[in-house]
Amino acid sequence: MPSASYTDPRLAAVYDALNPPSIEDAFHLDLAGAAPCAVLDMGCGTGRLASAFAARGHRVTGADPAPAMLAIASVRAGGDAITWILSDAASLALEARFDLIVMTGHVFQVFLDDEDVRAALTNLRRHLASGGRLAFATRNPAVEEWKSWTPDQTRERVEVSGQGTVDVHYDIRAAAGPLVTFETHFRFGPKDVATTASTLRFMDRDDVAAFLAEAGLSDVTWHGDWDRSPLGPASPEIIAVART
Ligand SMILES: C[S@@+](CC[C@H](N)C(=O)[O-])C[C@H]1O[C@@H](n2cnc3c(N)ncnc32)[C@H](O)[C@@H]1O
Repeated sequence: MPSASYTDPRLAAVYDALNPPSIEDAFHLDLAGAAPCAVLDMGCGTGRLASAFAARGHRVTGADPAPAMLAIASVRAGGDAITWILSDAASLALEARFDLIVMTGHVFQVFLDDEDVRAALTNLRRHLASGGRLAFATRNPAVEEWKSWTPDQTRERVEVSGQGTVDVHYDIRAAAGPLVTFETHFRFGPKDVATTASTLRFMDRDDVAAFLAEAGLSDVTWHGDWDRSPLGPASPEIIAVART
């Protein structure tokens, strides 16, 4: 079940203000290349990247289990050119096969136990065309980025159309083994506050590689950041691009 940050329509509406286009988008657009191909954006959220793929002429499917996120995605400019599917990664059941499947915004980290990871990767592998690629990332556990998810270090004020000013911050609640639980606080007005809880799994490169191999994906290119720098012990990201 996705976090209420994505399933509550009022909170989902804050997502785009908090997550403007980034170098991560450029990395994935580059992966797709210039020639039109079939792209699946799994965990597409509000469809920012899916619509950018479509604007470049790719045939795009965007899938997400949170109806509130898909509702925003489907009315985005160019959204009518995209096939939107309400589904999580493990349950997706399409006849279509894709040249590129992406999971951006660290969607991979919502798969909390080994069975969740296996079910998602195996099913996504099944949706890849011959020679197709699956790209996703986890934040590098060795960097312990969650230690900076404190109110003081994350406080942000954004303008949301129709809602005005919203103050947002994160607050780490627990870090137990690979699982990190944090709250997101949204302040819409003096007495109008919403708090959601989310848990993410942090996985090292060897474990990611082992899960990919189990899913039949052993040909993997690794990067340590969105500028394509090589993966090293202190890299912020563990980015996998796996080919069938
Ligand atoms: C941080 S957002 C990323 C959205 C988008 N990919 C982006 O980069 O802006 C995480 C998304 O993952 C979705 N999600 C949650 N559980 C999922 C699952 N089991 N399979 C696929 N997507 C999931 C959420 O609904 C949410 O839209």
